[in-house]
Amino acid sequence: MHILLAVSGGIAAYKSAELVRLLRKKGAAVRVVMTRSAMQFVSPLTFQALSGNPVHTELLDADAENAMGHISLARWADRIIIAPATADTIAKLSHGLADDLLTTIYLAATCPVYVAPAMNQAMWHKPVTQENINRLIAHGVTTIGPGQGDQACGETGYGRMSEPAEICERLLGRPSEQCLRNRKVLISAGPTREPLDPVRYITNRSSGKMGYALARAALKAGARVTLVSGPVALAPPVNVDVINVETAAQMHEAVISRAEAHDIYIGAAAVADYTPAEVQPEKIKKQDEQVTILLQKTRDILAEVAQLPNRPFTVGFAAETHELETYALGKLTGKNLDLIAANWVGRDQGGFDSEQNALRVFWPTGRQTLAMTDKSHLAEQLISLIAKRCDEKNTA
Ligand code: C5P
Repeated sequence: MHILLAVSGGIAAYKSAELVRLLRKKGAAVRVVMTRSAMQFVSPLTFQALSGNPVHTELLDADAENAMGHISLARWADRIIIAPATADTIAKLSHGLADDLLTTIYLAATCPVYVAPAMNQAMWHKPVTQENINRLIAHGVTTIGPGQGDQACGETGYGRMSEPAEICERLLGRPSEQCLRNRKVLISAGPTREPLDPVRYITNRSSGKMGYALARAALKAGARVTLVSGPVALAPPVNVDVINVETAAQMHEAVISRAEAHDIYIGAAAVADYTPAEVQPEKIKKQDEQVTILLQKTRDILAEVAQLPNRPFTVGFAAETHELETYALGKLTGKNLDLIAANWVGRDQGGFDSEQNALRVFWPTGRQTLAMTDKSHLAEQLISLIAKRCDEKNTA
């Protein structure tokens, strides 16, 4: 396996030296590209000694162009890992800028590309950084991390580069098999918005990240994917058929009308359980100290999919603040599901807006825990579990 490690300028660059060592120990051939600022943190000599190959730093180097220029390096690589990937590098890559060797190789690459972001937690959470990383993900790049914890800047939060051992495992692990080849997968994601009047609505906390990650993982696993999405701030995944909706009623219509034409339905949306019984045609004026809003129960999309005569393999989610297992199992049987993925919310980590999550998965004859990891990795694990269970059900 040929691994091209591209190092951009962050303090986590020192961890990438260990990554080279681990990759070589596992038998990979490693070549290293460094940006100018990366060289301020770690010397190219370190990477040269560890990789056993000269380090590439210049885009326009007459000698290098004859031997290993950007096109040859991109062709040589079976996988490219950008670690650490700084906010600046992520911004450049997501906009197709190519003014140095690293960014030019990215544009020339046809192999899978991974990025391991590393930056201060405020920089990571900045909306523009999130937009950039989501755009990269939509272009097919796989993210590894970032993790949570103490940062070199003295702060605590998301933005730490993942540990070299984890990056090594993700890079050299078995490439995800096409376990959903020729399958059609329908996924609902994000929140719904239930209007009260022309300017106000009731909604649920949901970023849509898990549902979008599932759509990408299903696509990677060979499926044809339809994504019914409530309003989210995420870039639509490339090569996925996206249907945008707002209300629970619209999501119901979009899902029910398509469900029987799909092999698998994954209800990852945070659908409003109640909607205002009446939508006021004009803005409700601020008058009384208290107001009462009458709410009407919405239709349970997931439970209705499971009742369809030609139902797809039906997967639900359960986000719980307490008694996770009891509620998840109750929904599995109560809604007649094939599988349910449950996660804690309202705790320190994971859930709603988080980059990471852990899941407890239940099906009628078994259960499995998927440990805390980033949502794209978690989605891949859940998709492969769903594919396995779905195959078992079809051959039973
Ligand atoms: O019953 P509860 O809302 O906790 O169940 C969560 C699961 O049910 C999620 O998979 C969610 O997408 C789905 N759901 C639905 N329609 C609703 C409410 C929840 O499909 N009206």
